[in-house]
Amino acid sequence: TQDRINVAIDGPAGAGKSTVARMVASRLSYIYVDTGAMYRAVTWYMLREGIGPDDHELVRQTMRNLVIELVPGAEGQQVYINSEDVTPHIRSLQVSSQVSQYAKLEPVRTRLSQLQREMALGRGVVMDGRDIGTTVLPDAEVKIFMTASVEERALRRFKELGGKEQISLEQLENDIAKRDRLDESREISPLRRAEDSFLLDTTSMDIGQVVEAIVSRCRAYVDGERNHL
Ligand code: CDP
Ligand code: CDP
Repeated sequence: TQDRINVAIDGPAGAGKSTVARMVASRLSYIYVDTGAMYRAVTWYMLREGIGPDDHELVRQTMRNLVIELVPGAEGQQVYINSEDVTPHIRSLQVSSQVSQYAKLEPVRTRLSQLQREMALGRGVVMDGRDIGTTVLPDAEVKIFMTASVEERALRRFKELGGKEQISLEQLENDIAKRDRLDESREISPLRRAEDSFLLDTTSMDIGQVVEAIVSRCRAYVDGERNHL
C-alpha cells in the first residue's frame, strides 16, 4: 500500500524550496533531505583542499573516499564530511558562487545521486534540489516544480541576509541568474521541469500558502490510492 509517498521539489535558487520542503516534511512526519546542502558541502571541502573543478582526476579520487552524512536536526539538517560538521560554512557567498562548477562534474553527481536514492528507499521523504523529479527520484508520487521571478527570488535572499554580507540587491540578482544559467545548461541532469511535475509559481504566494498547496496535493494522492483498494 502507498501510505507513505516520496515528494520531489525542484526549482531555481531562492524559489523557497528548502523552507517549504522542511515544513511539508514536518506536517506529514516525513524525512526532509536537502540535496543542495550536499553539493554545497562537497564544494566547501574541495575549496578548502585546494582542488579545482578542472582537476578531474583529483575530484574523482576525492569523491571515491569522501564520507558524507546528513543528520536531520531541529535547526534544519546538518551535513558531515569525514565526520566533520561543515554546516556552518556551506551557505557562504563563496560556496554559493562556486557550487555550480562542482555540481556539474560527473563523479560528484553520480555519488550524490546514489546517496540520495538510498535515503529515499523507505519512502516518506521530501527531497528538494534541481534534478530530483527528473533523475534522482523519477518515480516520486508527487513532483513540484517551484519557481518565482528572479527579482522576487533575489529580494527574498537579500532580506534573508539582513545586511550581514556586503552585497547589493543587483549583485545578488546577477549571481542568482548566473547560477540558474549554469544549472540549466550543464550536460548531466540539468535543472529542468519534469513533464509530470506540478508547476507552482510562488512569486506572490507566502510560505504558508505554498506549504498548504503541496500538503493538500500529497494528501489527495494518498487518499486517492486508498480509495482504489
Ligand atoms: O538554496 P539555493 O537554491 O541557493 O541552492 P541549493 O539548493 O543549496 O543548491 C546549491 C547548488 O547545488 C545549485 O545551484 C546547484 O548547482 C547544485 N545542486 C544540484 O546541482 N542538484 C541538486 N539536486 C541540488 C543542488
Ligand atoms: O531553497 P531555495 O533556494 O529554493 O529557497 P529558500 O532558501 O527556501 O527561500 C529563500 C528565502 O525566501 C527564505 O528566506 C524564505 O523564508 C523566503 N520565502 C518567502 O519569502 N516566500 C516564499 N513563498 C518562500 C520563501
